[in-house]
Amino acid sequence: MGRLDGKTALITGAARGQGAAAARRFAEEGAKVLIADILDDEGKALADELGALYQHLDVSSEEDWTAAVDRAVTEFGGLTVLLNNAGILHFSELGKTKLADYERVIRVNQIGAFLGMRSVVEPMSNAQNGSIINVSSVEGLAGMPFLVAYTASKFAIRGMTKVAALELGPKGIRVNSIHPGMIDTKMVSEAAGGVEIDTSWVAKKVALGRAGQPSEIANLAVFLASDESSYSTGAEFVADGGATATHALKV
Ligand SMILES: NC(=O)c1ccc[n+]([C@@H]2O[C@H](COP(=O)([O-])OP(=O)(O)OC[C@H]3O[C@@H](n4cnc5c(N)ncnc54)[C@H](O)[C@@H]3O)[C@@H](O)[C@H]2O)c1
Repeated sequence: MGRLDGKTALITGAARGQGAAAARRFAEEGAKVLIADILDDEGKALADELGALYQHLDVSSEEDWTAAVDRAVTEFGGLTVLLNNAGILHFSELGKTKLADYERVIRVNQIGAFLGMRSVVEPMSNAQNGSIINVSSVEGLAGMPFLVAYTASKFAIRGMTKVAALELGPKGIRVNSIHPGMIDTKMVSEAAGGVEIDTSWVAKKVALGRAGQPSEIANLAVFLASDESSYSTGAEFVADGGATATHALKV
């Protein structure tokens, strides 16, 4: 028996990285999965491999959200899990951060998570059952230089999670945030314009002395999507190798 048997899940940013790892684990555990992303070729290939569905979804678009949630409800007969995972990063010092870059990050990370949560209130309320998992970051718990927009968006996700948990608890919907530390994906190199960046020196400074793997965050998402986490809502789940265990980086 799978830990997610009977669950129907929409995962954003699921064509690669942590979203793809979650799609794999969710499918292995018996969930019906809708993989959503703007990377259509990668997303379709993964969906074919897993026997999942693929839907183009730009998380900053209201119309795309309506279409994606309608598709999940129509094809799966309902929607009980939302993993708001899509996210982008932008490095720049505060004094040089362009408004357009700040707004771009907020639109995807913060407005995307808001639109996603809003879109699933109706189907999850109808089911009187749901788990919304919002991917924040350790940058939703503490600041990081050169990441003003990203940090703002991840703090916002942490706050929105709590508001949603309070409003939606009576409808049987749980809402939690995940706070990964440095995870081995393409996010950093993509933000650097496709250039490979050596982040190993940062990873070595956390208690566990390494970066995390996408599967390690996916396992946390499985727990939160499943009924095993039935008394958890409005909470912050940190998986950061110990990065936030101290007020200073380990020497
Ligand atoms: N990698 C890390 O170190 C790290 C740490 C903490 C939190 N996070 C968060 O984890 C989440 C997943 O990131 P990742 O590490 O897998 O990075 P990634 O870059 O590999 O994956 C991000 C995915 O989001 C998709 N995406 C980007 N813009 C989108 C949009 N407008 N609409 C829909 N999809 C969009 C991308 O196409 C990609 O598939 C993000 O929210 C990120 O902020 C990452």
